[in-house]
Amino acid sequence: MRLSVIGCGYLGAVHAAAMASIGHDVVGIDVDKSKVASLTAGRAPFFEPGLQQILESGLASGRLTFTTDIAAAHGADVHFVGVGTPQVRDGYAADLTYVNAAIDALLPHLRPGDVVAGKSTVPVGTAAALAERVEPTGATLVWNPEFLREGWAVKDTIDPDRLVVGVPVDGGERAAQILREVYHTAVAKETPFLVTDLATAELVKVAANAFLATKISFINAMAEIAEVSGADVTQLADAIGHDVRIGRRFLGAGIGFGGGCLPKDIRAFSARAEELGRSESVAFLREVDAINLRRRDRAVQLVVEGLGGSVFKKNVTVLGAAFKPHSDDVRDSPALDVAVRLHGLGAWVTITDPAAIENARRLHPQLNYVEERDEAIRGADAIILVTEWDEYRRELDPSHAAELATGRVVVDGRNGLDAAAWRAAGWTYYGMGRP
Ligand code: UGA
Repeated sequence: MRLSVIGCGYLGAVHAAAMASIGHDVVGIDVDKSKVASLTAGRAPFFEPGLQQILESGLASGRLTFTTDIAAAHGADVHFVGVGTPQVRDGYAADLTYVNAAIDALLPHLRPGDVVAGKSTVPVGTAAALAERVEPTGATLVWNPEFLREGWAVKDTIDPDRLVVGVPVDGGERAAQILREVYHTAVAKETPFLVTDLATAELVKVAANAFLATKISFINAMAEIAEVSGADVTQLADAIGHDVRIGRRFLGAGIGFGGGCLPKDIRAFSARAEELGRSESVAFLREVDAINLRRRDRAVQLVVEGLGGSVFKKNVTVLGAAFKPHSDDVRDSPALDVAVRLHGLGAWVTITDPAAIENARRLHPQLNYVEERDEAIRGADAIILVTEWDEYRRELDPSHAAELATGRVVVDGRNGLDAAAWRAAGWTYYGMGRP
């Protein structure tokens, strides 16, 4: 099939390359010239395992192209819209400027029978409003939320755990069938394919992220209770996680969630619920947000405690800058936030990360960045793990670290280290919600 993908950010670039890899003819369109130039040259504009390969093979096959010219969308059977919906500057709501601009630009190029598939995360009700603008062209607007995780984006796009397509009353069945053809490889594997109305599809996306955020904050709230009662939250998570109704995943207590999705999505959800007169229904999301942010304070507090009450003029090495491993994304990164707070308290902060240094430096040039892990640890009075890359969690030998560092204080902001091994190597170990 011929597809256009409007917006070549995280979602769009991966979607375009992934769709080409399963045999479609794809044009990726973005207003950002440098992004288009980079993609056209076969350079993934961000770190995402597997993207580079499918980008190169797509370009080589001739089935994948990128342009800044929206007219290139003309002739595609399906137009995916995957532009960003960031938090507005002066509130919690989602900024729909880019979605509206993409639809405006696309309208003159639509043909009767085309399908416009929205993928951006939007407040419920957005799709119905957009459908009114698309309908006069004879095209059909559907909503096809994206559930990819950074670090697993290629796999999640080609082989998702479910596909959701919200369709309008008129022409919905035909449009859903077209989307089945687009996702033919996943459909052949009997991936659940749910056809809903537009509002449900929009809501599925924010409900999923709200649930995940709530699960993380739940375990972090238990960590807070563990801290005042002497319990161990990791054992608690293991124990409750054995109940299949609860499950162990996303019960990792630590410095909490960040990134370009969960934080802004729960806030946009609260803002939308308020507009709909139902703010009380998701009032708990404010608590989820507050618990999450408190954990960053706690991590900082542990470093202060470990260094005897002050970090002023102490060398603190921060392991990790990305909001999670396998990503170079530092948007709302709890890791970077902890580093900035320590710097604000007068610590000499050195940060290392296998992928995110460049992005982190752009955002916080005042901090000291060191590429090489061991070099970053050398001379540290304390180290704090904030992004659980294998390089730090599994591959960093505590005895080796002890030879490099000056002090023996380690704060495990992700509960990813082997506490017993670090203690045995002479370190004073502090976990999150652990005695
Ligand atoms: C999240 C969702 O998981 C995806 O399903 C969704 O498609 C995506 O947002 C989106 O809306 O685009 P992502 O932001 O890539 O994906 O990251 P997650 O893997 O969800 O992690 C989010 C944050 O939670 C990270 O900072 C991570 O360190 C933290 N986390 C995760 C915990 O603190 N504890 C856990 O147990 C799990």
